[in-house]
Amino acid sequence: MGKTKITVNRLGLGTNKVGGYNLFVHLDDETGKKVVQTAIDHDIEMIDTAFVYGLGHSEELIGEVLQKNDRHKVILASKGAHQVSEDGTLSLNNTPEFLTKSVDESLRRLQTDYLDVFYIHFPDEDTPKAEAVGALQRLREAGKIRAIGISNFTLDQVKEANADGYVDLVENQYSLLQQKEMAEMIPYLNEQHMTFVPYEPFAGALLTGRYTQDNLPHLEEGDYRLNIDLYQSDQLKKNVAKVDLLKPIAASYHATVAQIVLAWYFKNPKLGPVIPGARTPEQLLSNIKATDIQLSTADYEAIAKIFA
Ligand SMILES: NC(=O)c1ccc[n+]([C@@H]2O[C@H](COP(=O)([O-])OP(=O)(O)OC[C@H]3O[C@@H](n4cnc5c(N)ncnc54)[C@H](OP(=O)(O)O)[C@@H]3O)[C@@H](O)[C@H]2O)c1
Repeated sequence: MGKTKITVNRLGLGTNKVGGYNLFVHLDDETGKKVVQTAIDHDIEMIDTAFVYGLGHSEELIGEVLQKNDRHKVILASKGAHQVSEDGTLSLNNTPEFLTKSVDESLRRLQTDYLDVFYIHFPDEDTPKAEAVGALQRLREAGKIRAIGISNFTLDQVKEANADGYVDLVENQYSLLQQKEMAEMIPYLNEQHMTFVPYEPFAGALLTGRYTQDNLPHLEEGDYRLNIDLYQSDQLKKNVAKVDLLKPIAASYHATVAQIVLAWYFKNPKLGPVIPGARTPEQLLSNIKATDIQLSTADYEAIAKIFA
């Protein structure tokens, strides 16, 4: 990861559906804990969480599971930057004081004395970026974190944040359906030895192949996908049509569309660990099977062409 000596497997676990009750509906704590335990049982290393997933609740649930396992087997990544005011509204704070306090609070909730990665979850408007990252560098020197990450930063913001060369990982939205935004940044990150962690690799389930032209997603009130361009009616049908083209390729590997999508990310040398979310242990177990797929170069290129 980045300029550290830490290595990590290509398949990780995203946990905004473990305890992220403020972001998603129909979540259940016990199932969430089972998802995390299943990941550990199957040697998944990177577990990606954040304060804002349940305002600490995701971290607490993961902390409970970690107590029953060997902490050192896991590459634990959390994020902070959201400040909760007395009336419950969220704002962003990247000041050294706030980030330092955020790391201490994440450690307490996760019941551990170090984080493998701490990301600044979103940039704030005021704090000089290198100053914010400098605070994380001091936390690294103090042994509280092992690698420094930033998330949702633009390319200019990444350059500013990495002025002293301390940033190891950048986590931004990226999927087969959302490549344009990162077209300039990914080569830059590769060149500068920063690891790129794509988030929402299934574009929030669109790339799992579960939808068809006759069965488009019905988004309930409160579903964040209502605000995403990919899910607006004019684009949705076109996106589902592209995903449909993956079905024969997936079938030729006796795999699901979701597994073939993951296999494509694993074969892409520009990407770091991929952290699909899973609502249930069954979804995760299916995603784990993708690590056995050897995608041919011809199919890798054919898939790239569909989504170019
Ligand atoms: N840094 C950031 O700002 C940021 C932002 C967003 C996410 N993230 C991180 O990235 C992770 C991944 O993003 P995400 O979870 O939002 O989206 P995602 O990985 O694109 O999609 C996850 C969803 O896909 C469906 N799914 C997963 N495996 C499946 C399978 N095998 N078969 C069928 N459906 C399957 C599930 O949908 P259902 O729930 O509908 O069943 C699951 O909730 C998050 O968990 C979080 O850790 C980071």
